[in-house]
Amino acid sequence: MRSFSNSTSTKGIAAIVGVGPKLGSSVARKFAQEGYTIAILSRDLDKLSRLADEIACEAKTQVFAIRIDCADCKSVREAFEGVLSLGSVEVLVYNACEPASCQPSNFMAISPESFQRSLAGSAHGAFYCAQQVIPGMVERGRGTIIFTGSSASLNGFAGYLELKYYFFSYIGCGKFALRGLSQCLAKEFFASGIHVAHIVIDGAISDPRSSKGDQSTDTCMDPNIIAQNYWYIHTQDKSAWTQELDLRSPNQRF
Ligand SMILES: NC(=O)c1ccc[n+]([C@@H]2O[C@H](COP(=O)([O-])OP(=O)(O)OC[C@H]3O[C@@H](n4cnc5c(N)ncnc54)[C@H](OP(=O)(O)O)[C@@H]3O)[C@@H](O)[C@H]2O)c1
Repeated sequence: MRSFSNSTSTKGIAAIVGVGPKLGSSVARKFAQEGYTIAILSRDLDKLSRLADEIACEAKTQVFAIRIDCADCKSVREAFEGVLSLGSVEVLVYNACEPASCQPSNFMAISPESFQRSLAGSAHGAFYCAQQVIPGMVERGRGTIIFTGSSASLNGFAGYLELKYYFFSYIGCGKFALRGLSQCLAKEFFASGIHVAHIVIDGAISDPRSSKGDQSTDTCMDPNIIAQNYWYIHTQDKSAWTQELDLRSPNQRF
């Protein structure tokens, strides 16, 4: 675990799991700007540490980079020992997903290992991470858990659509499972004061590092605007699981 900046936050920890250059970074930045102490988690600790440094400098808050492999229960447990040692987790955003590129599209070409790995990254990891934070949230009677879904959360696709992002067929089945997990958790823990939301991102997300994005900006969603929606869900829109937002319209809330 590496930490950056010395200032502390009384708001508690926002743990963002699955942080790359797009949505994960934007969500971490947004919660950092709002004064949370941030734990960002994914597998590549070098990249994560550079990002933590950047966010800590920009937001003048404490940012911790922690390695996790969500597909591995032991790795999740160890990572959250680190997270929970920092303070209480007020917000968990589960954003991890294996990238779609290089995945075969037809059923018989998919190996059992790659199918298992995709389920593990999307659904098993969400289950493991939620089990780490829910006891503390129940004890405090509050907390927010946001799961990032995609078009594949609602629809199965035959074959591989040309968009190359997350419209991938069998390898997207974990997103269906993630949605089911979200709904069960929302129903079980609503009465304990925990707000669980599942967000359907129905379209491609642009890359904020590229001036043009990695597709035309007309067809891509701005991850910073999606992150503002996550903030809104955490702070304002507390009604139960029904915030399954279709963010096709990027300015849905703002
Ligand atoms: N990009 C899109 O167009 C799009 C569209 C709709 C929905 N979504 C959803 O939005 C979410 C974020 O996508 P994004 O493209 O914006 O990605 P991102 O936030 O830029 O990065 C996500 C990061 O998750 C990490 N990750 C993947 N598997 C992991 C695992 N097993 N354990 C730990 N970390 C893992 C990867 O980093 P490491 O390799 O370092 O672990 C990856 O960089 C995903 O859930 C995705 O399904 C994306």
